[in-house]
Amino acid sequence: MTSQAAGSIALPLDNQQTDRLTAAVNGLTPLQLYWVSGYTAGLAAAGVPEGELNAGAAQPAASPGAEDTLTILYGSQTGHGEGVARELGEAAAAKGFAVKLKSLADFKPAALKREKFVTFVVSTHGEGDPPDDAELFHEFLLSSRAPKLDGLRYAVFALGDSSYVNFCQTGREFDSRLAELGAERALPIVECDVEFDTEAKRWQGDVVERLPTLLDSKPAAPLLRAVENKAAYDRQRPFPATVLSNQKITGGRSDKDVRHIELSLEGSGLSYEPGDSLAVVADNPPALVAELIAHFGFAEDTPVAAGDETVDLRTALERYFEITAPSLGFLKGWAELAQSESLNGLLAADRQGDLKDFFASHQIIDIVRAHPAEVTAEQFTGLLRKLAPRAYSIASSNTANPDEVHLTVAVVRYDAFGHTHEGAASTYLADRLAEGDTVSVYIERNNRFRLPADDNAPVVMIGPGTGVAPFRAFVEERTERGAAGDNWLFFGDRTFSDDFLYQIEWLRHLKQGGLARLDVAFSRDQADKIYVQDRLRERGRELYEWIEKGAFLYVCGDARHMAPDVEAALVEIIAEHGQKSREDAAATLKELKRAQRYQKDVY
Ligand SMILES: Cc1cc2nc3c(=O)[nH]c(=O)nc-3n(C[C@H](O)[C@H](O)[C@H](O)COP(=O)(O)OP(=O)(O)OC[C@H]3O[C@@H](n4cnc5c(N)ncnc54)[C@H](O)[C@@H]3O)c2cc1C
Ligand SMILES: Cc1cc2nc3c(=O)[nH]c(=O)nc-3n(C[C@H](O)[C@H](O)[C@H](O)COP(=O)(O)O)c2cc1C
Repeated sequence: MTSQAAGSIALPLDNQQTDRLTAAVNGLTPLQLYWVSGYTAGLAAAGVPEGELNAGAAQPAASPGAEDTLTILYGSQTGHGEGVARELGEAAAAKGFAVKLKSLADFKPAALKREKFVTFVVSTHGEGDPPDDAELFHEFLLSSRAPKLDGLRYAVFALGDSSYVNFCQTGREFDSRLAELGAERALPIVECDVEFDTEAKRWQGDVVERLPTLLDSKPAAPLLRAVENKAAYDRQRPFPATVLSNQKITGGRSDKDVRHIELSLEGSGLSYEPGDSLAVVADNPPALVAELIAHFGFAEDTPVAAGDETVDLRTALERYFEITAPSLGFLKGWAELAQSESLNGLLAADRQGDLKDFFASHQIIDIVRAHPAEVTAEQFTGLLRKLAPRAYSIASSNTANPDEVHLTVAVVRYDAFGHTHEGAASTYLADRLAEGDTVSVYIERNNRFRLPADDNAPVVMIGPGTGVAPFRAFVEERTERGAAGDNWLFFGDRTFSDDFLYQIEWLRHLKQGGLARLDVAFSRDQADKIYVQDRLRERGRELYEWIEKGAFLYVCGDARHMAPDVEAALVEIIAEHGQKSREDAAATLKELKRAQRYQKDVY
């Protein structure tokens, strides 16, 4: 930034001041620039003499304190909440407010007492659990150690997925516990489903509009204007990526169909880091659309509302609505329309376990077939959620594959209730796209799943099934960087002959040093089932030595069974080889998580 760069606008700074300001802001990210703009605007609003604005001045006396800073705390596993929090920060800073944006992992809970107004953006994971970065804060807030919070005002934006029984549980717990501790709810909690953009925008607008009252301070015009440095393609504007290849990587005798898919990002300007996911905007299976229309006997050109538009039923079911995985809202609505005692029974408070199993095993078509009801097309679509993009862990390093992104996709196709069922996005990618076709995608950043900054640090990767995807990216990246740290991969699947995903690549890495160690577990190659957690236990002593040497541990793949089993094995290993009690071993693992040396990307 120079006086010249400002064109014809006369700057109120002399050349020296301009140079100092330029040096001070050089290299800051757009969000940091926004923050600086809000900060300096806050100083100006507080009537600080211009002279005190210079970069080197000691400012605590004049700095905006808790009372005029918007504090935004987020707990986010896969980056959605972090994005919502960032956008709020940008919107508030652009209006001239000072903003403090932090992950809950970096915020001391006791500091809440010093805050005046805090917004929380938090998702729910596991089985109603907080995301990893919010775990310690959540534990503290819900404990008896949490302080009284009279004088604090707050607003909670909760992210979740209403096909989970514990919908938005963590956000709900934050909201009710803060009130219990005496804090004042400034805005009602917003509970968001997988499609959260519209509600996020509305909530961000509500918060910013009320900031002058909530912070009791006037916004000042930001001294630095909003910096337009956003990616050209994102959630709101997905990029049409061209399919370069789609290759089945499971063998002919495998009962799984896993694809290695390569897409071109050429011309998008998009880049990604190992650990990020690619979100895919897919269409629903046409066969399922036809089955639903036939089941109800609807005319496929019946006009129905799809958001702000009216479209024909076929298009709406193909492109607009979620028609595979049911949501809680759908189940409740359908139970009522079908006057189904068994569905209503399932929704009873004490049947959460059954409800969870029901969601895992039923698609919408199974429900409407088993519990018939006479409905209009509008009544049916009125119960459906908007079709959400699906995330896939990126299986390539951007450094090694400029302009390309690779995925490892397990195709969801199974028989149940006498019919064949398909997943929406996985079959779209596998079956309905040909080479040369385009698919709408955007990058989902995942700052909670990152390679160590230190290239000398050892890395242990536990990724059975498609969980191996990000580790292909990790190893490619580390090889490309010439990272000296050793890499150890644990892979598992059903059979060596037909399910060893990327076998040739792993063996090549092993030979060339990209992998220092490879341990595999094929569950169906012998009488006893062997899983990755069994291999971890077998290698417990060496694994513990790696941890002692500073290794970073990564787990990716199945959230329901594999990740908890692996975690239990890790605790056992730390207890046995570190000669600790189980509690101390669990605390050690928690500490590794806090230090970001134990990271999970599970689904
Ligand atoms: C951060 C993240 C990373 C991911 N990475 C990957 C990855 O690298 N590779 C990958 O393949 N997937 C990955 N996934 C999962 C992926 O996003 C999709 O959930 C998956 O492909 C299924 O989507 P779908 O649209 O094909 O199926 P959907 O249309 O969502 O249908 C699945 C639904 O079918 C029902 N169902 C009933 N019985 C079954 C059954 N036996 N099997 C399955 N569903 C059943 C359930 O209601 C289930 O919700 C990831 C998910 C996340 C959140
Ligand atoms: C493995 C896994 C478990 C989840 N469990 C829940 C849950 O119990 N309740 C819920 O409401 N949402 C659940 N979700 C949905 C997430 O909260 C939702 O995807 C949210 O947008 C993620 O936000 P984040 O990226 O900020 O973490 C789960 C998602 C995943 C991948």
